[in-house]
Amino acid sequence: MSREISEDEILGKAYDSRLMKRLLFFLRPYRLQVALAIVLLLLSAAAQLAGPFLIKTAIDRHISQNDLTGLRMIALLYFAVLVLAFSLAFVQQILTQWIGQKVMYDIRLRIFSHLQELPLSFFDRNPVGRLVTRATNDVETLNTMLSSGVVSIFGDVFVLLGIVAVLLHLNWQLALLTFIVLPAIVVATLIFRVKVRESYRQVRLRIARINSYLQENIVGMSVVQIFNREERNSRHFDQLNQSHLHAYLQTIRYYAVFYPTVDFLGAIALAAILWFGGLKTIEGGLTLGVVVAFIQYSERFFQPIRDLSEKYNIMQSAMASSERIFKLLDEKPQIRIPENPQQLPKIRGEIEFRDVSFTYNNKDWVLSNISFKIRPGERVAIVGATGAGKTSIISLITRMYEPTKGSITVDGVDICRVPIDDLRRSIGMVSQNITIFSGTVEYNIRLADEAITPEQVEKAAHDVNAHPFISRMKNGYQSELMENGSNLSVGQKQLLSFARALAFNPRILILDEATSSIDTETEMLIRDAINKLMAGRTSLIIAHRLSTIKSVDWIIVLHKGKIREIGKHQELLAKRGIYYRLYQLQYADELVQ
Ligand SMILES: Nc1ncnc2c1ncn2[C@@H]1O[C@H](COP(=O)(O)OP(=O)(O)OP(=O)(O)O)[C@@H](O)[C@H]1O
Ligand SMILES: [Mg+2]
Repeated sequence: MSREISEDEILGKAYDSRLMKRLLFFLRPYRLQVALAIVLLLLSAAAQLAGPFLIKTAIDRHISQNDLTGLRMIALLYFAVLVLAFSLAFVQQILTQWIGQKVMYDIRLRIFSHLQELPLSFFDRNPVGRLVTRATNDVETLNTMLSSGVVSIFGDVFVLLGIVAVLLHLNWQLALLTFIVLPAIVVATLIFRVKVRESYRQVRLRIARINSYLQENIVGMSVVQIFNREERNSRHFDQLNQSHLHAYLQTIRYYAVFYPTVDFLGAIALAAILWFGGLKTIEGGLTLGVVVAFIQYSERFFQPIRDLSEKYNIMQSAMASSERIFKLLDEKPQIRIPENPQQLPKIRGEIEFRDVSFTYNNKDWVLSNISFKIRPGERVAIVGATGAGKTSIISLITRMYEPTKGSITVDGVDICRVPIDDLRRSIGMVSQNITIFSGTVEYNIRLADEAITPEQVEKAAHDVNAHPFISRMKNGYQSELMENGSNLSVGQKQLLSFARALAFNPRILILDEATSSIDTETEMLIRDAINKLMAGRTSLIIAHRLSTIKSVDWIIVLHKGKIREIGKHQELLAKRGIYYRLYQLQYADELVQ
């Protein structure tokens, strides 16, 4: 949790050219649309600027001269400019929103496909909540910047400069008088920016806390309810919620002071124009039209100034978000196709470990100097106490992790040199924690692989004894399963994962037997299914069941990351070593039966 927050609280610069360059890369496919949007924006800003000027002309040239035709022309022109400004703003709005949505779509897709390419070790380091935030909140922040920040900053700056130029052109003395409040506005803006920046940081920090607490609670709901933690957790949530509320209200307070302050300073400028301009008009040094135009321009002058400071905040969070997104995209994906790939021809299924050592964290050695060779079609069991490194061994074969030292070969070819997809295609895996996706039973068995026909799905289910329970479900193979298979029993999930492994008909089978004990009847079904799964394949099984251990050709005994004994069941028993002790502890009960 602390790491997530520390990363999410970072508030960088409002503009970072390195990040901006990378962001522009995502805008590249839409550069025409972006250019068009900017042109439209400038045109609509120009149309806005034209309004007061037309009014000034109407007053000075036509109204004061009683020129009705001219007045009519100007009125028509004014109307036309209004319609034009409206149409331009409309198209420009749709266009910028479209660009924003498109870029968001692209970035989300990039993040998702990138995540899928990352090695498992990355997911060991990064909590789910944080990764979800990258693909949702952070992308949304970028969208805000694209659709209402970056582009309209051009417009704001253009309008500001335009007004300054027009005012100076109309009457430089009156213009300078208008600008007299600017230093005060600059000071107010600077103070506001610093304050709001800090309070936004607080808001973000506290919302991150709320999110992670929510996630933890929802995932662990059964524990929360069984241990009667509801009220206590609600109270804790209330605290987090309140602290978020306070931080947010503080932000609002700053806005509530800042906006009226700018408005007030603008009103002072307006009063000065009215007074000084009026005076000059009476004295005859200035026309009424100019004063009216000044009043209108000055009203438009302060609005973009106010908006710019808001946009500064948008830019700032967008930069922080893009920094986080790019950090994720910069994570090195696992190399799927090595430089000089070697094909695995129709594989026989020989596996050899040559002096393999492995550590997850470059500190603690989980496996040391592991060497063994499994001939094609052999059945081998790995046994050992919990934490001995059994699951780690098989994670190396499927290249979920890379060995730190030594090498692993399949059919004599180093698995690092085989395209990872080819390798994984020849290996069937049933892991300790079974993953069920939300979708139908059939989808869960063949995982949307077109090459596997519904008949093959059914046959696989049949062979591993999953068919009876599936056909008892209301819609058979089309029954919908819930996320994590929460509407299945533990035994049913196991049988389903067996069917999945069998349907892919792999040359090599890897099975990490679940430890949970199941009723005798299901136990028989599973035992039978495992035998069918192993038939005709090289099988490496992390075995907990005595029946499984007895049905393999030989056994590897793992102890604290080292191979301590290797041999057949009877041989190992005769040795009276680690295996014997393990056997006595673990299977004494089963022996009695
Ligand atoms: N993703 C990981 N990151 C860091 N350390 C890990 C990771 N997975 C396992 N370990 C560590 O590696 C060691 C071996 O774990 P492993 O999962 O291989 O044991 P195991 O023999 O399969 O145990 P079990 O019978 O309980 O499944 C343990 O000390 C564990 O703490
Ligand atoms: Mg394990």
